[in-house]
Amino acid sequence: MTAPFTVRPLGREDLAWVCEAEAESLQIPWNKALLAEELVHPNAVCLAGLARGQGDWEPAAYAFFRVQVGEMHLFRLAVLPPFRGRGLGLFLARACLIEAARQGADTAWLEVRNDNVPARRLYARAGFSEVGIRRRYYADTGEDAVIMSMPLDGLR
Ligand SMILES: CC(C)(COP(=O)(O)OP(=O)(O)OC[C@H]1O[C@@H](n2cnc3c(N)ncnc32)[C@H](O)[C@@H]1OP(=O)(O)O)[C@@H](O)C(=O)NCCC(=O)NCCS
Repeated sequence: MTAPFTVRPLGREDLAWVCEAEAESLQIPWNKALLAEELVHPNAVCLAGLARGQGDWEPAAYAFFRVQVGEMHLFRLAVLPPFRGRGLGLFLARACLIEAARQGADTAWLEVRNDNVPARRLYARAGFSEVGIRRRYYADTGEDAVIMSMPLDGLR
């Protein structure tokens, strides 16, 4: 059977749907200008996750991360609501980790809202461990951030 998902680099032509998804899915959405800046940042990797529709590949998810001094920092990962619960989040997270390892990262890091149970479980399934807490990290709610990390040596 053919794989139901694939990834490709995000481009400027993706900004409209990514921006809409940010507003819908993230509590502090990045605006178009910020997303566009990230697309051209030399250390940034921006990926679209695609799901196979009626023969065509449909944009269904996206992720933004940076690789700097041997570390990957995953800033953004979201799956559009109709495509959730099918394994795409995990597929895209793994694709990001493999690409970061390929670009020389030894360790991956991220912060996730304490209350975001789906994301915490997704990251745990991808291989991350919870290594600390940043108290009152999120300005909008004062929520704590859970710091998660994983070694990437096994992916090289
Ligand atoms: C978090 C998110 C990316 C998960 O994407 P998804 O494609 O639905 O996730 P998957 O189908 O790949 O599931 C992978 C694992 O995540 C966990 N998970 C996903 N959705 C879950 C839910 N609603 N409740 C609990 N666990 C969940 C499960 O452990 C699952 O593995 P399992 O099915 O083997 O138990 C998606 O819900 C989303 O885009 N949320 C809004 C944006 C966001 O919060 N991003 C993360 C912070 S930047």
